[in-house]
Amino acid sequence: MSQVCLSVDEVFANFSLPPISNPGMISGEEERLYYYLARECYRPGSLYLEIGTWLGRSTVRICEGLSSRGDDWRLICYDKFEWLDFYAKRAADQGANGRWIEPVAKLRPGESFEQAFLQYLSAYRDHISTRRGSLGDIGAVMHHDLQPGTAIRGLFVDASKGWPENASLLRVVGPHLAPGETSILFQDFLYCQSYKLMFLLLGCDFLEPYLFTKSGTSVVMKLKAEIHGSEPILQDGSIKTFTVDQIYRAWERAKTYFPEWKLVDNATNLALPLMLIERGFHAEATEELGKVHLTGEMRAFANAKLTGKVVNFKPLRAILGARA
Ligand SMILES: C[S@@+](CC[C@H](N)C(=O)[O-])C[C@H]1O[C@@H](n2cnc3c(N)ncnc32)[C@H](O)[C@@H]1O
Repeated sequence: MSQVCLSVDEVFANFSLPPISNPGMISGEEERLYYYLARECYRPGSLYLEIGTWLGRSTVRICEGLSSRGDDWRLICYDKFEWLDFYAKRAADQGANGRWIEPVAKLRPGESFEQAFLQYLSAYRDHISTRRGSLGDIGAVMHHDLQPGTAIRGLFVDASKGWPENASLLRVVGPHLAPGETSILFQDFLYCQSYKLMFLLLGCDFLEPYLFTKSGTSVVMKLKAEIHGSEPILQDGSIKTFTVDQIYRAWERAKTYFPEWKLVDNATNLALPLMLIERGFHAEATEELGKVHLTGEMRAFANAKLTGKVVNFKPLRAILGARA
């Protein structure tokens, strides 16, 4: 099968960005990707949407990319903006390495980090606005932003990896994206823990992957055709009707777009048996587990999943390590 996706470093090698001090959860290669993509998508007067900003490391790279082309743009930043215990630990670790953590130093779990986010983005305050909500509620929260005729040129997503929330996102923003023009970046696409997101997106024939990162998990997709809110795959409960044929077809698409090593890296190939288990196709899942190369610990995790003994991904995360 041919590999039609390019890695970010094949597109722009030897390219560096100025240092910034925002804490973040993306790799250096992904920072370059956000910048590059924003630059490429820039059209005067356009709207851009980022879902899942945390403390704005990706957001600053988007703003830098857009600003490098002109001044006539607007970015909406959508997030729950709810501080978690685990965020405090991540920020403290990064503070020890010189990143600026004062804006979040006193936050307690459950509090909003929206004001802190705006402080991190003060240089771009005239261009950005925040919307606070859960991804599944985006239709209601962004109702006034998404009037008929509103066009979104770039969509950057790094939030929930769940199927229904992301289906709802595509259903709501889809009619505002332009085929052949809008780029959509999904962080954590190539990561076995996000298997539902991966199968949802590969199940959408109107989306075509065209860029991936060698060191990270992000994938950029182009819109091949208009997204209609009525697409069956974007309706509530569509995961429950995803057939074994649709799963295999989506996986064949993955093999077409990405090099084999990328599907092995980070146990991404575990996504196929996990999706089969999710839908209750246990015989097929067992067969696939027999084909993939996994370490002993990963295999133990997969077998436990198969027999219904594991409900969350903590054991697998411990094996794979946290992302950047
Ligand atoms: C991995 S962090 C984003 C990292 C960021 N892009 C960066 O450059 O560091 C995920 C973000 O998504 C937000 N988030 C997670 N689940 C969400 C949901 N269901 N709805 C809205 N936001 C969500 C979190 O609040 C967090 O800010």
